[in-house]
Amino acid sequence: MSLNIPVVSLDALRANDAHQAQSLTHSLKQFGLIHIKDHGIDENEVNELYDCYRAFTRLPDEEKAKLGGADVWYQRGWTPPNTEKAVIANGQPDFKECYFIAPIEMDAELKLEFPELIAENIWPTDMPRFKELYLKIGKQVHEIGLVLLAACEKVLGLPENTFKQLIEGGAHVSRLLRYLPITEEQIQSSILWGEEHTDFNLLTLLPGGRFYDEKDQACPAPKDGSGLFLRAHSAEHPEGILLSGTAPKGCMVAQIGQQLEILTGGRFVATPHVITPPKTTGYTRMSFAHFMHVHPHQLLTPLAPFRTKETIEAYRPPVMAGSYDIKTLVDIGLAPTSALDSLGYRHYSRLEKQRNG
Ligand SMILES: [Fe+2]
Repeated sequence: MSLNIPVVSLDALRANDAHQAQSLTHSLKQFGLIHIKDHGIDENEVNELYDCYRAFTRLPDEEKAKLGGADVWYQRGWTPPNTEKAVIANGQPDFKECYFIAPIEMDAELKLEFPELIAENIWPTDMPRFKELYLKIGKQVHEIGLVLLAACEKVLGLPENTFKQLIEGGAHVSRLLRYLPITEEQIQSSILWGEEHTDFNLLTLLPGGRFYDEKDQACPAPKDGSGLFLRAHSAEHPEGILLSGTAPKGCMVAQIGQQLEILTGGRFVATPHVITPPKTTGYTRMSFAHFMHVHPHQLLTPLAPFRTKETIEAYRPPVMAGSYDIKTLVDIGLAPTSALDSLGYRHYSRLEKQRNG
């Protein structure tokens, strides 16, 4: 079996090219990941956004910390290094600093129900280009995700607009990530920029990262096995084999998250992936990720065509996506464990008071 990740054309998918849709779906089943060309994202604008974010990250930590923070579970604004950790990384935090925004307008009522997930965007002052580009690219990438999901619907035999309806009003977020320079000591200890994990959302889109050298100049990726790797499974490698997920020049990456795995009863499987740093000190890497989510009220359980005894048991119990998000944000260290208390009844103290007269 070939372990080459195919490239599909977004233009062809838009034109309902059945062969390309098959190739997309096959790759998402085999690798949980696909490379996309003809996507229309301007690479120069992505690079300019990375430069804007680099300028932001040079601010003192005290300044950056004013934007976002634990109150909104780091779902908006800046996430400091050593905050987020992968569930299966034995508590090892990722070595990165990030910035979250929501590029799509969100429902006012959902803001009342999920004040942290659906928080208002926060912007640094005096950085209008940062805001402009971030919102623009976030929206563009979201539209690309909709095209991919529509193509998947056809091949999976789902009614048209199934995914579009499921994700309308979801807590979609875009994230800028800066993986930090590592020390010689960290190289010796084989530290990772991003520990192995699967994304907890529906579909993740990555328009392409960029490396910076020790002089802070943009540079080609060091040729030493750094960047995005995914764990692929095949008959020859049942335990999984790490493959480079880095897209060919000009292409972007889309990868399956846990929500799409659950909804398709495992027809698609969330991609385990890891971000490995270079084996040389001084390099940093910028990346943009857009995370598409299903609506917070949507139940995460296999959709009708994928419901069997096995899939229902594999993904039980059904959980509301908003609750699932809260649980996962606790798991990865962004929300406090007290957030789990909000998933049950909140008024026991009133009952207690009434009982005591
Ligand atoms: Fe990820």
